[in-house]
Amino acid sequence: MPTLHRVALLPGDGIGPEVTEAARRVLEGAGLRIEWHELPSGLDAVHKHGDALPSFVIERLKEIRVALKGPTTTPIGGGHVSANVRLRKALDLFANVRPVKTVPGLETPYGPVDLVIVRENTEDLYAGLENVVAPGVVTSIKVITRRASRRIARFAFQHAADWDRKRVTAVHKANIMKVADGLFLDCARTEAKRWDARVAYDEVLVDALCMKLVRRASDFDVLLLENLYGDIVSDLAAGLVGGLGLVPGANYGRHMGVFEAVHGSAPDIAGKGIANPIAMVLSAAMMCHHLGEKDAYTRIRRAVAAVTRKKEALTPDIGGTATTRQLTDAIIAEVKALAAGA
Ligand code: NAI
Ligand code: MG
Repeated sequence: MPTLHRVALLPGDGIGPEVTEAARRVLEGAGLRIEWHELPSGLDAVHKHGDALPSFVIERLKEIRVALKGPTTTPIGGGHVSANVRLRKALDLFANVRPVKTVPGLETPYGPVDLVIVRENTEDLYAGLENVVAPGVVTSIKVITRRASRRIARFAFQHAADWDRKRVTAVHKANIMKVADGLFLDCARTEAKRWDARVAYDEVLVDALCMKLVRRASDFDVLLLENLYGDIVSDLAAGLVGGLGLVPGANYGRHMGVFEAVHGSAPDIAGKGIANPIAMVLSAAMMCHHLGEKDAYTRIRRAVAAVTRKKEALTPDIGGTATTRQLTDAIIAEVKALAAGA
């Protein structure tokens, strides 16, 4: 009898419920036994509980420790603080990991990509410390601490070693933010010394990195970034492989994993049944790995690759005409075929 896992499910809002449902079906298709605990977040939670991330949700997540999470909408300018930013801080999910890899069968104007973004997830300008100090003058405080920078640097090198990666590149703007990014770099350098023989280390300015990624992303392996740079570079890297519908992610704390796609709630296509479920399905595969279900991890990734290679059931964002359901069904059929052939 396969192990029964307890997992929290946060469908979120926008396309969140559509893609998390797809991921859940694929996990079931892969034969995983999961006891789901559904919890509200985002606009859904605002409507029901008056809060995008009610405290009881945080408490449940602390108990369950593993979650599959859909995106949540955050108002621009005013309105509530991002449920994501709050979640990552409340659970101390300090490491955001986003593997970005060329998708088999999908043509892009760019070369091959196979990199991992490791983003610090708890501080930087996302501390939300903004003040109007005089009419027309605002300060927004960038917080960088040695503790968080060391911790994320250590995580990036450990991740590189665990996944047989060769090099960590620290991304910065320490020519301008000499003290803040200087501290981040200092921590990365200190950590790099401990890994000397096993994992190589270098550094790049964030603006130069953007240009270099577009020209030749294959030059990069593991990228170590502060929160804001990590957010921006993630979407850029997603663009290199065919868009936000394809790139998965995980947020790790000391004893927790919250798995979610890089993309947001995509209000422009929400409710139309055409959201690409692949990013969320691959996030669910990362969750399988975290749960020790290595076979399911491999099988789900192979199934997704088989579907994109065959180009039979692609959603509009990647050049097809299929619905979320059709693409999900195609992945499930491949997952089952792989299981039967195993
Ligand atoms: P977005 O990622 O939601 O969408 C950007 C573009 O990519 C849109 O054209 C959208 O249709 C497309 N797209 C994204 N995911 C797709 C998918 N799975 N399939 C097909 N097309 C897809 O970014 P946007 O529009 O800037 O943000 C919308 C909302 O999402 C905002 O309120 C933002 O704060 C929130 N957000 C939430 C995140 C989270 O909960 N983890 C992460 C990023 C944004
Ligand atoms: Mg983002």
